[in-house]
Amino acid sequence: MNRPYTFINVAMTADGKIDTFERKGSLISSKRDKERVDELRALADGIIVGGKTLLEENPKLTVKSEALRESRIQRGLSPNPIKVGVATVADIKADSNFLNTGPAKLVIFTTEQTSNEQLKFLRARDVQVFVHSEARVNLKLMVETLKEIGVDHLMVEGGGTLNFELMRLGLVDEITIYLAPLMFGGLNAPTVADGLGLTREAALQLQLIDVQKWEDGGVFLRYKL
Ligand SMILES: NC(=O)c1ccc[n+]([C@@H]2O[C@H](COP(=O)([O-])OP(=O)(O)OC[C@H]3O[C@@H](n4cnc5c(N)ncnc54)[C@H](OP(=O)(O)O)[C@@H]3O)[C@@H](O)[C@H]2O)c1
Repeated sequence: MNRPYTFINVAMTADGKIDTFERKGSLISSKRDKERVDELRALADGIIVGGKTLLEENPKLTVKSEALRESRIQRGLSPNPIKVGVATVADIKADSNFLNTGPAKLVIFTTEQTSNEQLKFLRARDVQVFVHSEARVNLKLMVETLKEIGVDHLMVEGGGTLNFELMRLGLVDEITIYLAPLMFGGLNAPTVADGLGLTREAALQLQLIDVQKWEDGGVFLRYKL
């Protein structure tokens, strides 16, 4: 299968939560971690998030550091990677950071459940929209399409539903985690990998390739899948 090298990056609490039960996009990363994440973004050709993250966190998905954007330009790249969203039903607002923060090429993968009005609106805002005919976006087809449009390195920035499905389907090569010295609890708070879950026999096997104890009290972990 011809797909991008794909890595998930996540900031989570000691109990594996990536947000509180309020789902408002809580800050979990430390200052140092934010800098590391920005460096990862600058190395990617595309950054993908799930539809709920797009709506609930309103992320910019751009490289924050001017120096890093400049170094991309020097390498013959666009200042920001392609911003990619995946949503069964897309409902992207005119004032969203997805549409307004850039410059960046924009791509949405969705299904026929998205209204024609929204599809027209997105295309009028120069978003490249791929509409899949299945009940949910076909993630295998999606990553092949991303490769075809020039994404060799794909960074996944959550949330838990998208992370899980991509890992379950074997479409992820590595995962980096900033484990913050925090505990959110909450049965309904999102975790690093949600979805339906796996049995013990089907559990994904990870290989730990780096672990660092940071002065801010966090732990940095890097696994290969
Ligand atoms: N701390 C961090 O690093 C971090 C990073 C990102 C997000 N977050 C948090 O994560 C939370 C959101 O996560 P979430 O799990 O609710 O949602 P999500 O992963 O952001 O969004 C998943 C979306 O993708 C859609 N989708 C379409 N086809 C799919 C497929 N084949 N497989 C999987 N999803 C598919 C889902 O639609 P349907 O399910 O409706 O079909 C849903 O709209 C927010 O609270 C956000 O703040 C934290």
